[in-house]
Amino acid sequence: MIYECIKCGLTSPVKMGKCHKCNEWNCFEEKISNKKNNLKLLVSNKLSDIGSVQNNQISCSIIEMDRVLGGGFMTGSSVLLGGEPGIGKSTLALQLAANLSHLNSVLYVSAEESISQINSRAKRLNIKYNDLFFLNDTSIDQIFLQIEDLKPSIMIIDSIHALTSNDSDSSLGSISQLKTSSQKLSEYCKKNSIILMLICHITKDGSIAGPKTLEHLVDTVLYFDQIESDELRILRTTKNRFGATNEIGVFKMTETGLVEVNESSNIFISSNSESYPGTAISSTFEGTRSILIEIQSLVSAPSQSYGRRYSNGLEINRVNMLIAILEKFSKIMFNDKDIFVNVSKGVKVKDPSVDLAIIASLLSSFQDITIPTDHVFVGEVGLGGEVKTIAKIEKRIKEFERMGFKKCFLPYISLNQSGDLEKKFSDKIKLIAIKNIKELDKFIGEMK
Ligand code: TYD
Ligand code: MG
Repeated sequence: MIYECIKCGLTSPVKMGKCHKCNEWNCFEEKISNKKNNLKLLVSNKLSDIGSVQNNQISCSIIEMDRVLGGGFMTGSSVLLGGEPGIGKSTLALQLAANLSHLNSVLYVSAEESISQINSRAKRLNIKYNDLFFLNDTSIDQIFLQIEDLKPSIMIIDSIHALTSNDSDSSLGSISQLKTSSQKLSEYCKKNSIILMLICHITKDGSIAGPKTLEHLVDTVLYFDQIESDELRILRTTKNRFGATNEIGVFKMTETGLVEVNESSNIFISSNSESYPGTAISSTFEGTRSILIEIQSLVSAPSQSYGRRYSNGLEINRVNMLIAILEKFSKIMFNDKDIFVNVSKGVKVKDPSVDLAIIASLLSSFQDITIPTDHVFVGEVGLGGEVKTIAKIEKRIKEFERMGFKKCFLPYISLNQSGDLEKKFSDKIKLIAIKNIKELDKFIGEMK
């Protein structure tokens, strides 16, 4: 209960005889609190918000883009699109802006390129952009004047580095300018339920220029990556308030812009049908997607008096551990060998379920045995040489089956735990349960 002085408004938890602020006597009365009502209002507001947010996703008609966003652009959300110069950020932005403009009013602010440059890109991309609004300006204050007039539902800023704000005295492209411009834009857009996409360059070392300061201002962070010397582009989600992180979208840069690659589980493995000793296929997960990866090992005579180990795409400590396990349980000695282990196409893998494939590829190279190209290996290997169970086994096998693999080597425990796995897949792919490294060694030996 709270008491309030009717003269000066001073509040007190006890009913005082004299107010020590205005010195009036017998002036305290019980204050009727409306806290309860407010609370109710708050709760009901929150619930209705949640209900409406779920239905407010806008698809840009590019499946790979919608996936990394968690289903599409959420109304009033802000997205940061980062990537090295020349990777294709402006191309992607223009393509999705054109798609979105058929049903929404979209403003594309180009602070780096002139309207005629954008025009020629649009021609090259064969984009119909009659409904798209362009603005070629670098002043954030001018941009605000335009938004007030146009009231777009989606705004794309290409790029945030090129904007200047009157409120910041720092030089163009400085962290302070970046922060001020981004903050102003994201606050305005959130208040007015405008979808905001900020394009941002990344420096060669991988950090965003004007670094992590922008990431916390937005709801979703996407990075555009290039697979080594390939026309493939991978869009990765590293933060998403409305969906899963680690999702990927796959595109190909072509003569006429970015084309989405929906069938992408085999993009990281070599396309030739021939196999060589030392090659083994496995799978890992990128967000909700099962992706095939190719491990290659080369076990050779040492170039010095002692053997050395190299690893590309896998943690060297993990590779060393697996070599030690192999030495102990298969009785093969690697200490006088040079060992190179590589994941194809520059992929980096941390998922321990590729352990079995690493061991298979080491055994294959050491014994000069070629593993058939329609064989795959999944399973984590423990220090006792045992093959441990892994997550999402059924989803992985489904993908192997779909991609035409005929034999899948997997943990014995996974096969037994997952009930009728064998019955489900027996038609097209043979499942071979492996208990330990010794068993795998035997199977590889039989492939000779
Ligand atoms: P761009 O979208 O301008 O990159 P960013 O905005 O990230 O700097 O893409 C530039 C590169 O993409 C450039 O090297 C040319 C190439 N490109 C194509 O190969 N095909 C195309 O249709 C377009 C528009 C660009
Ligand atoms: Mg650009």
